[in-house]
Amino acid sequence: MIGLAAETTDLRVRREVVSFVRRSNRMRPNQRRAWESYRNRFVIDVPRQQTSTSIHPAASLDLVATFGRDANLIVEIGPGAGESLIPMAETRPQANVLAFEVYRPAIARMLGHLARDGIDNVRIVEADAVAGMQQLVPAASIDEIWMFFPDPWPKPRHHKRRLVTPAFAALAASRMKRGGMWRLATDWADYADWMRKVLDNHAGLIEVPARGGSPRLAERPITQFEQRALDAGRQIFDLAYRRVD
Ligand SMILES: C[S@@+](CC[C@H](N)C(=O)[O-])C[C@H]1O[C@@H](n2cnc3c(N)ncnc32)[C@H](O)[C@@H]1O
Repeated sequence: MIGLAAETTDLRVRREVVSFVRRSNRMRPNQRRAWESYRNRFVIDVPRQQTSTSIHPAASLDLVATFGRDANLIVEIGPGAGESLIPMAETRPQANVLAFEVYRPAIARMLGHLARDGIDNVRIVEADAVAGMQQLVPAASIDEIWMFFPDPWPKPRHHKRRLVTPAFAALAASRMKRGGMWRLATDWADYADWMRKVLDNHAGLIEVPARGGSPRLAERPITQFEQRALDAGRQIFDLAYRRVD
């Protein structure tokens, strides 16, 4: 499923700005049990470069072998414990859902639910989605990207950590099929404006419906994260962009 080219050249240490805080991967006993029991079934082991969330530059992924079938591809970026991913993947049994998440205890919680609910169309890579999209996802292969409540990094000095950047938009667009959709949600008005500016600026992406903000995707549940935002009085912004030529 995972390939590694024989020639490995780039071993420089790169300290890049990432969109997440490196946290301890210490797990509670039930999370550890779920991790040990189900990681082989759902988690794709990837060769690393320097850090535990990196992906070796020579790594590649055979999606058909990974999922055991050729099907439409949905990529979720930062699903946390899968509160959206699990019910939404369940409503799309015909699609393969590939998730990139950096926080192992959240992945472990997700594994327990996936196993209990008998959901078999989800695979998870424990890695930075930027590296994952770059190295593991082929060009023009994604039907839908889900990016719900990416960390907002509200302070101006932290904006450089936001996942949605012109470079990431270009990478994501290059991995989407023509007609593919990128669905985003955020509870920060400022980040919604930022997302719209970045994505509007990419010639290969158009907002649907045009310039109005998209209606909430019916199957997207209210997660604990979203509920906390609502309780704090924040508005939720849903955006959707289509890949065009
Ligand atoms: C604010 S939480 C939202 C979780 C979930 N999408 C929800 O709606 O409840 C953001 C998640 O994105 C993950 N994350 C942040 N940057 C990431 C990256 N570069 N690659 C993969 N996951 C990332 C975090 O670990 C966290 O689980």
